[in-house]
Amino acid sequence: FQGWPGLIRKYAKYLPVSDQTPVVTLHEGNTPLIPVPAISDRVGRDVKVYVKYDGLNPTGSFKDRGMTMAISKAKEAGATTVICASTGNTSAAAAAYAKRGGLRAFVLIPDGKIALGKLGQALIYGAEVIAIDGNFDKALELVRQMADQYPITLVNSINPYRIEGQKTAAFEVIEALGEAPDWLCIPVGNAGNITAYWTGFRQYQEAGKSQKLPRMMGFQAAGSAPIVTGKMVEHPETVATAIRIGNPANWTRAIAVQTESGGAFNSVTDEEIMNAYRILAGEEGVFCEPASAASVAGLLKLSDQVPTGATIVCVLTGNGLKDPDAAIKGANQHFHQGIAPDPASIAKIMGF
Ligand code: F0G
Repeated sequence: FQGWPGLIRKYAKYLPVSDQTPVVTLHEGNTPLIPVPAISDRVGRDVKVYVKYDGLNPTGSFKDRGMTMAISKAKEAGATTVICASTGNTSAAAAAYAKRGGLRAFVLIPDGKIALGKLGQALIYGAEVIAIDGNFDKALELVRQMADQYPITLVNSINPYRIEGQKTAAFEVIEALGEAPDWLCIPVGNAGNITAYWTGFRQYQEAGKSQKLPRMMGFQAAGSAPIVTGKMVEHPETVATAIRIGNPANWTRAIAVQTESGGAFNSVTDEEIMNAYRILAGEEGVFCEPASAASVAGLLKLSDQVPTGATIVCVLTGNGLKDPDAAIKGANQHFHQGIAPDPASIAKIMGF
């Protein structure tokens, strides 16, 4: 087999695996770094912006990077059952990898608050989906209790193998650019992924694969921005349901990343998120989910602070197909419904 082997086999020497580890893989990773000139133009001053399109992973999000590791290691340890809380993407990835590895998967989600595509995925991959009357933070509290009391493995990002798998995205960014970027812009919910990228950038620098380290720029949705405000949010709200989190599990590590990298946490409004989401799809042809667009919204917001000529990578964490409702609502001015089936009415819409 000459194809891409998946990230565990590709990066085995940087990961806590051995020849004995049963590798559960959907050949995730190896996602493209795409130049986005319409975003670069808006920032100006010869800044070069790229997006790391991790929505092209097998279940459509970066979670696959962490889940191939978490499930492989769970299997190695003899686990038969995994559990997670999720705003949607973790549940889809956990379900797919658990089933591929022959494990049972249980996922807790906030009822009515996850995007349609993600719900469909978790169900069809064969997880037992438990919708609770409560938000993500409550669901995480519950699965922590369950994992303490019963013989089940927790696969949220507090599981250290998740971070290990996800750090490989930073390796790929360095390989694509030949160097680390000046800034890494990334949406933040539980702050697992920003922790993972920073781990990866540091490890590759130590291995001599890059000279510098990026400033880590994390972006939260304004209605769910506990790390920005320094205060837990009891009732987080945002159109970006993936990052609708009021009490991040990796809060302390997020602060360490900020300090060590000279980075910052900022918030972006739902309007700014949807604006970036529309530019990415409508001008670049890159369709991500709303939460992912927070990285680009954040960069546009901080344009004035970007050094001239800088190289910037914005992480697009999830595929746009995850959330079809957001796309349809977000572009309804282009949707012409109830049109009479004749050439004249169509020509009128076309401006002839
Ligand atoms: N972007 C997307 C599309 C996500 O699904 C998530 C997290 C994040 C960004 C934030 O990453 O939590 O590591 O800071 N989604 C989790 C889930 C919470 O359950 O799918 P983070």
